[in-house]
Amino acid sequence: MTAKKVYIETVGCQMNVLDSELVIGALRKQGYDLTDTAADADVLLFNTCSVREHAEEKTYSALGRVVPHKKHNPGVVVGVIGCMAQKDQHAILDRAPYVDMVVGTGQLARIPELVEEVKRTRTPQFAVSLGRADGGRHEVEASFESYDPTRDPSMRPTPFQAFVRIQIGCDKFCTYCVVPSTRGPEQSRQPDHILAEVRQLVEQGCKEVTLLGQTVNSYVYEHGDGRRTRLSDLMAAMHDTPGLDRIKFVTNYPKDMTDDLLDAVRELPKVVKYLHVPAQSGCDEVLKRMKRNYTVASYREMLARCREKVPGVSVTSDFIVGFCGETEESFQKTMDLVRESVFKNSYIFKYSERTGTKAADRYPDDIDEEVKKRRNQDLLAVQNANSLADHQAQIGKTTSVIVERASRHGKRETGPVKQLTGHTMADHIVVFDGPDRLIGEIVPVRIDDASPFTLYGEVLTGETVGVSSEAKPRAARPRRIGLNTV
Ligand code: SAH
Ligand code: SF4
Ligand code: F3S
Repeated sequence: MTAKKVYIETVGCQMNVLDSELVIGALRKQGYDLTDTAADADVLLFNTCSVREHAEEKTYSALGRVVPHKKHNPGVVVGVIGCMAQKDQHAILDRAPYVDMVVGTGQLARIPELVEEVKRTRTPQFAVSLGRADGGRHEVEASFESYDPTRDPSMRPTPFQAFVRIQIGCDKFCTYCVVPSTRGPEQSRQPDHILAEVRQLVEQGCKEVTLLGQTVNSYVYEHGDGRRTRLSDLMAAMHDTPGLDRIKFVTNYPKDMTDDLLDAVRELPKVVKYLHVPAQSGCDEVLKRMKRNYTVASYREMLARCREKVPGVSVTSDFIVGFCGETEESFQKTMDLVRESVFKNSYIFKYSERTGTKAADRYPDDIDEEVKKRRNQDLLAVQNANSLADHQAQIGKTTSVIVERASRHGKRETGPVKQLTGHTMADHIVVFDGPDRLIGEIVPVRIDDASPFTLYGEVLTGETVGVSSEAKPRAARPRRIGLNTV
C-alpha cells in the first residue's frame, strides 16, 4: 500500500512556519508522507494569515486551485488552519464550500484526529478557540493551547536552525491588528519546557534557535512562588547549553525593551546582536490612534538606548502607511523617523482594514489606495538608501556566519566551490564562495562588498568557528516543507 500523502501551503509569520512544521511532524507520525504536489495529496492543508486582506486573498486563490483535484477525488481532505480559520470560522465555507476542516491556531493538536473524523463522517469538522469576549480570561486562555509537540528535524528547511515558541497570543490590542483575536491571550510558556525543547533540538543537531513571540520581550513567566523568569533570564539559562551556538528572538514591542534585556544581548556571546522593534509610525497622533502606547520621542530614546547598550547592534522595524487619518504631514514625520534611524531594514505595509478590529469600528479607512501606494514607495526609497548605508558600514569587518545553503542567486551551480549564503551575528545576509561541506557550520567571513540587502565576503580560513567547542555529528539534509510566505 502506498503511504498517504499530505500537502501544505503556509502564509504569514514565523509562528505559522513553526506551526506548519509541527502539524506535518504530527501527521508523519500517523503514517503520512509530505508531498510538494497538491495533485498527489490525500490531505491538503492551508496554514493561513489574516493580518492583511492580501494574505487572505492569497489563501482563497490557492484554495481555488485545488478544486479540480477535489472534484476528481472527493475523498481528499481540504483543511484551512491557523489565523484565518480562527477569525472566519464557518464563513470560510461561504467562499470555499468544499473545505472539510477548519482548525484555529489554538486547536492544532486536534488535526490528526479531525482528518480521521472527516474521512469517517464526510462532514466538515470545526475546531476553534473562544473569542476574546466569549468568556473569562482563564477560560479563553485555556481554549488557546500552545502547540509544542516533539520536534522532527527533517521537517525544517535546515536541521541546524529552529524556531522555538516561548509565548503565544498578544495582549497589546493595537487597533489595526487581528492577532490578539486570532492568537488569543498572551501566555508565556514555562521556562522548563522551553529549555527542554532547546536541549532536545540541540541533541538533534540544531545550532541556532529563534525564540518566537508576538511581543517576545514581554515574555515573563510567574512561577507562583514569587519568582519570575524574564526573556533575559531565559536566554541566560539556555546560553550554556553545549552545542547551541546562536540565540535570536523576534518580535519586540518598543515599550518592553528593558535594560536587563539589552544587557543580556550585549553580555551573552551567543545572542545575535539584532533587534526587530517595529515603530509602525513616526507621528504621535497616528501612534495614539493605533494604540501603540508610546510616543515617537520615547521610540527614539529606546533606539538610542539599544545602540548605546549593544554596540554594533542592527535594528529593523515595521511601518504601516495610510493608516486612518494619516495626513501628508503625519507621513512626513514617518519619513523623518526612517531617514534618521538608519534601520538595517524596514518592512513597510499599506494599511489593510480588518473587520472586528477597533480601528475598523472607530475610524474610516480614508486614505486612497493610490496614496497608500505612493507613501509605501517613498518610504521604501528612504529605507533602501539607509539599508545600503547600513550594509556598507559592514565592509572590512570580519564576522562569524552560520552557513545556511547554496545561494539561490549563485552563479556557480556545479563544481566543488559554490556560492553559499548565511547570516552574520548582526543578522545580515552574506554571500561568499565555499564548498558545500560548510553548510551547517559557523565560519569567519570578511565582508568585502555590499548591496542594500546583501553583503559579499570571503571565508577567512578552512577552520570553522563557533561559540561552543562541542563537536556534533551533522544531521542529514532535509527536504524543505512547502513554504509560501507573504
Ligand atoms: N507582533 C508583531 C507583528 C505583528 S504583524 C508586532 O507587534 O510587531 C506584523 C506587522 O504587520 C506589524 O508589525 C504591522 O506593521 C503589520 N500589520 C498588522 N496589522 C496590519 C494591518 N491591518 N494592515 C497593514 N499592516 C498590518
Ligand atoms: Fe498586533 Fe500590536 Fe500585538 Fe503586534 S503588538 S501582534 S501589532 S496587536
Ligand atoms: Fe502571524 Fe498572520 Fe497570524 S502575521 S499571527 S499568521 S495573522
